Amino acid sequence: MNRTVEVLPDQAALVARALELTLARIRTAIQDRGRCAMVLAGGNTPKPLYEALATQQLPWDKIHVFWGDERYVPPDHPDSNEGMVRHAWLDRVDMPASNIHPIPTDGPEPAAAARKYDEHLKQFFSAQAGDFPAFDLILLGMGDDGHTASLFPHTEALNVRNRLITVGNKNADPRITFTAPLINQAHCVMFLVSGANKRSALEHVFAPTADDFAYPARLIQPQGELWWLIDQAAGQDLKPEMTVQQT
Ligand code: 6PG
Repeated sequence: MNRTVEVLPDQAALVARALELTLARIRTAIQDRGRCAMVLAGGNTPKPLYEALATQQLPWDKIHVFWGDERYVPPDHPDSNEGMVRHAWLDRVDMPASNIHPIPTDGPEPAAAARKYDEHLKQFFSAQAGDFPAFDLILLGMGDDGHTASLFPHTEALNVRNRLITVGNKNADPRITFTAPLINQAHCVMFLVSGANKRSALEHVFAPTADDFAYPARLIQPQGELWWLIDQAAGQDLKPEMTVQQT
């Protein structure tokens, strides 16, 4: 696996590095494939990256954005990942509305919404039944319990191997989420991890052996590049031989 782990001095440095890599991957995807299909993470850590992307001059008509997971709430709800990204980034640039691909949350049934988004992705990539399309860039966060997207420890969603999208559960709350095999098909996956509360989970995620179902971020082992951008507060207990320290 092509994994790079960088520990950055603080959150600002993490965001600056994430911006640099994101811009480079967008450029490469457009050069090689004519467009960039990128997947966005929720949570607080990537928000300044989205704000920074809003200040860039980019060929917005060639960039398509998707969400790796969503809470089952309308876009104007304070917990909505779609709402957060629109506010921080998409509302501030001229990206065509048809390039924005939010997870539907308007029906009564999360399972039906998961099927609908699954179909939407297959259509976008003209994928055959059983194919897992390759996104150009997938941004992910990690929770202090080791979850990523809405793949929470010891939940059914971790076992799903035959679908692109499924229903995840945070306690009793349904969430819609990319499955691990879909994430693993990507050309590039980039984790953004910040804060001292992530320290213990990170140690388990990077341990040579641990329970993948207890720390779902371990399931992410993409075909393409894997980047872990971690701030010092989160990464200070990681063994130096597994990381590149950036100053
Ligand atoms: C979400 C996310 C989730 C998030 C982590 C980290 O919708 O909550 O997709 O997986 O990335 O919980 O969140 P923070 O960046 O806020 O720590």
